[in-house]
Parts: sequence; structure tokens; C-alpha cells
Amino acid sequence: MADTLTKFAYQALQQGKSLMGVAHKEVSTKLMELVAPQGAAKTRPIPTQMLTDLQRAHSELLEVDWQEAEQGLYPKALLFDAPWLDWASRYPLIWLDMPSTWARRSERNVHDLPQDVRPDDYPDYYLQNFHHQTDGYLSDHSASLYDLQVEILFNGTADPMRRRVIRPLLEGLRGLPDRPAGQVRVLDVATGTGRTLRQLRAALPEAQLVGLDLSAAYLRQANRWLSQLPNELPQLVQGNGEAMPFASNSMQAVTCVFLLHELPGEARQNVLNESYRVLEPGGTLVVADSVQLADSPQFETAMDNFRRVFHEPYYRDYIGDDIDQRLQQAGFSGIRAASHLMTRVWSATKR
Ligand SMILES: C[S@@+](CC[C@H](N)C(=O)[O-])C[C@H]1O[C@@H](n2cnc3c(N)ncnc32)[C@H](O)[C@@H]1O
Repeated sequence: MADTLTKFAYQALQQGKSLMGVAHKEVSTKLMELVAPQGAAKTRPIPTQMLTDLQRAHSELLEVDWQEAEQGLYPKALLFDAPWLDWASRYPLIWLDMPSTWARRSERNVHDLPQDVRPDDYPDYYLQNFHHQTDGYLSDHSASLYDLQVEILFNGTADPMRRRVIRPLLEGLRGLPDRPAGQVRVLDVATGTGRTLRQLRAALPEAQLVGLDLSAAYLRQANRWLSQLPNELPQLVQGNGEAMPFASNSMQAVTCVFLLHELPGEARQNVLNESYRVLEPGGTLVVADSVQLADSPQFETAMDNFRRVFHEPYYRDYIGDDIDQRLQQAGFSGIRAASHLMTRVWSATKR
């Protein structure tokens, strides 16, 4: 009985988030068309069949998310985890931020970054306003809005999609049975504000979790969120996923969520190569990113609209890229992949 009620509460919460996300995007798009029509993207109409397919994939995602909690892969409390009060207080800031976003879109200005950014500290491809985001990834303001913006973008399914890395990760770690739980090191590459690490901590209470990201501002935000967890001392490192500041063979698992689509092909390959290098033999890599044309052709219009609406300069290349082949090229074997709504999850092993 208690379980039925909890499942009902979870479904109701997700339904609420979905409605909120759809309503927000609907109203903000209409407002932009009215106030800043030059910035409005020309999107393609969504075919009815695609809407049906999206709804089915959405329900399947929530069912898997619930089932894996039931199976004990992570606690059910995780299904309800979010900084609700913080998001409620920040929601008005998203609206206040919109006029500057519209201005950048209208002017096609994608290099509007804070004055104090030192370009030499970052790869060129990084110095852009991804998603037309104010300050790109390079300010505390941007970091403070990011989670809520992603939540809205994905209609509340960002964490359910991130959690899909947990099963392949736990299965992969079974390949290293002799290691005490407290000596398992898991690196989350491009950890951003640490949402994936928060999911991993619930599934791996004793593991040593490490987050890597290029953005000091996003890492500061990650530090704030993760420090709220009991006994947590966040291990967060600023650095480039293409040249990770970690010793070879030093990690038992690597995760990487929503990074690859923001990288040019060469950088994508470098991140996979580096993941291979830092993993110990037997270690597992789990990558989660957008679905692609080959595995989800039914969502082609959604993928195309995504890159039209948001500044995502490498997305078109990414959705046609062969990630399996890149993983093999990096040296990985045992490659498996599965799609969950708009996210594809690959797992692979270093032999
Ligand atoms: C779309 S966000 C994803 C963040 C997080 N994984 C999540 O699930 O929300 C992309 C992140 O990748 C980081 N990033 C981009 N290029 C990077 C690179 N070469 N090395 C490390 N981090 C990078 C950005 O700073 C940003 O935090």
C-alpha cells in the first residue's frame, strides 16, 4: 500500500514537472515572438506520431526509474530529490534573464562572456554561450540557474535520464569484486553542478566520488549542493576532460553525462581516450548523452528543433557521430547501449 502511494506520488510529481516545463516553454516562446521576433527560431512542426512516441518513451523512462529504485539500485527518496525551495526562489530570475538571452539571439552573438575570463585558460570551442546562456558556463549566475533550466528543458526528466547511468555502472563495478566499497573511485567528467554525483552518491554510499569540470563557477555550485549531503566532502577538480589531471589506471569507473554533444569530434575522441587512460583494467565507462539519428530516427524533428532553438554548435555533428566506433578506437570493449527518452547511455570496459 505504502509503495503504491509512493509510486503514485512520484508519477504525480513528474506529471507536474512535465506540465510546468511545457507551459514555461510555451509562454516564453510566445513572449519572445512578441517582444524579440528576430531572435525566434524557425522550428519544424512536431508530427503527431512523434508526440505519441515521446509520450510512450516518457512513461517507459519513469517506469524504469521506479523499477530500479524498487530493485534497490538507489533509494526511493532519490526520486523526489531536488532543491525545491532554491528552485522556487530562482524561477523568477530565469524570466529576468530572458531579455538578455533574446538580445544575444537576435544579434547572433554567441561569444558574450564575462570580461574577466582569460581565453588562454580554455579550449576555443568552450568559449561560447551554449544554449544562449548568459555568461556561457563561466559565472556563478549561470551556474545558479543551470539546474532549473535543464529541468525545464527536459520537462522534469533530467535526473531520471541521468540515473540511467547507475545500472550499467553497478554492473560494471561487479567486474572488480575484490575491491572494498570504500576504495572504489568513480570519476564524473564534466560534472557541472554535480547532479550526477548526487545520484551516484545515493547508489554508492561508500565510494570515493570525484567530479571534473572546466568551470570553476559550476564546481562551486556543485560544492554547495553536494556539501548538503551528510558526511560528504566533495572532491571537485577543475580541468579539461581532454587532458585529465589524474594518473593512468587510477579510477574504477568513469561517468560522463551530457558532455559529448557540446564537443567537436576531435575533443569528443580525446575525452574517450582520456577516460580509457585513467581507468584501471576492468574498469567501466558509462556515457550518457542525447539520442542520435541512428538509434532514434523517430525523434529527428525534436533533435533538429533543439539545435535550431539553442546554440549547440556541435549537436548536428554529434547526432550523426558513431560513438561505438569512437569507444572502440579509444580501446574499449564490451560496448553496450540503450536509449531512454532523449538520452542514450553507452557502457564499455577497459580490458
Ligand atoms: C551540458 S553541461 C552537463 C553538466 C552535467 N554533467 C549535467 O548532467 O548536468 C556540460 C558541462 O561540461 C563542461 N565542459 C565542457 N567542456 C568540457 C571539457 N573539455 N572538460 C571538462 N568539462 C567540460 C561544462 O563546463 C559544463 O559543466
